[in-house]
Amino acid sequence: MSMREIKLCLLGDSGVGKSSLVLRFVSDTFNERAETTIGASFMSKTLLVDDRSFKYQIWDTAGQEKYRGLAPMYYRGAAAAIVVYDVTKMDTFKTLKSWIKELQQLGPRDIVIAIAGNKCDLEEMREVPTKEAVAYAEEIGAVFSETSAKTAINVKDIFVRICQRLPSEMMVSVEPDKTITLHNEPPKQKNCSC
Ligand code: GTP
Ligand code: MG
Repeated sequence: MSMREIKLCLLGDSGVGKSSLVLRFVSDTFNERAETTIGASFMSKTLLVDDRSFKYQIWDTAGQEKYRGLAPMYYRGAAAAIVVYDVTKMDTFKTLKSWIKELQQLGPRDIVIAIAGNKCDLEEMREVPTKEAVAYAEEIGAVFSETSAKTAINVKDIFVRICQRLPSEMMVSVEPDKTITLHNEPPKQKNCSC
């Protein structure tokens, strides 16, 4: 079976729950006292969607302002980005919009953008109305979900929907039971010593 690798990065303000979403997706756990990310962290996870295998290469960036300049290293060459805000903090939704503008201006041309309104378990503290976020996501053609890394709601779902949105690859048959896949960009060389 073919395996497609997807480079994905998470962006968004510090404390919105980027690392918690990754931890929930990759190991189905949650930590109430998660520590702030320094620089960025990497994890991978394989997902089966519609009988196809997708290997997510996930770059979880640090949301603190001082790391903002590092982000292009992680969204460069990415097939998808999940931009996260916290439904209980309107400021984080404003930051999300600035991340999306940056991705549209400087990110890969056909990057799939997903918006996650995280901490939707804290309904009584909500500041960002669902309607407002849905309208914005529709306007920019992004995948949208309200998620909770704490309860797990919609976490796997957002990764599944990203797979379904990826531009299809050209599949070329070389032998009856083998296929080679042509990517839009040549794969980067591995084990480079530079
Ligand atoms: P930086 O690494 O600083 O950019 O932050 P981050 O976006 O990775 O946030 P992190 O995952 O570290 O979560 C911040 C805090 O929010 C932690 O205390 C988490 O336990 C909490 N948290 C994360 N997701 C949720 C959620 O869905 N619901 C609730 N109630 N708390 C959450
Ligand atoms: Mg983090």
